Amino acid sequence: MIEMAGRKALVAAIAACVAVWSAAVAGAWTAGPASRSVNDGVYTEPQAARGAKVFDTNCTACHDTGRFTGEDFLSAWTGKPLAELFEAVQTMPEDNPGSLKAQEYGDVVAFFLQLNKYPAGSDELKGDAEAMAGIAMAPHP
Ligand code: HEC
Repeated sequence: MIEMAGRKALVAAIAACVAVWSAAVAGAWTAGPASRSVNDGVYTEPQAARGAKVFDTNCTACHDTGRFTGEDFLSAWTGKPLAELFEAVQTMPEDNPGSLKAQEYGDVVAFFLQLNKYPAGSDELKGDAEAMAGIAMAPHP
């Protein structure tokens, strides 16, 4: 009988741990994806200007800026974390994927946000997938 009580206590302790862990995971979710969107000024003007230069040098051989603006572009990315667009640009240039620095890819994403008339702010967009995972591509307000 004493052994049974010990077992019950152990099971209860494990259940408590699982509950704490699930709460932590749920907290991470609510603090993550929902926390900010591209309407919140997530890049700076000078950064977008840098991104435009990176784009001119590395991307215009195959793309013009029209490919990354307008209805088709926005509907493809709206509702997704900005990290997905960041990952897509890192697969480019198609003939030399991943050849730019992470921050240069981040600057190109900032340039795309500016092209699509999302507001600039006072902090740069970090060229980092984890940072961009918390920023949602949202429709214009
Ligand atoms: C050698 C040609 C070439 C170069 C240079 C190039 N791309 Fe691409 N890119 C392509 C092709 C081909 C596709 C697929 C067709 C399309 O979606 O337009 C593509 C698609 C894309 C997409 C869409 C991916 C998706 O998942 O929808 C993005 C974003 C992109 N390129 C960004 C860039 C950026 C940023 C650069 C410069 C750093 C760049 N590309 C340079 C050829 C190129």
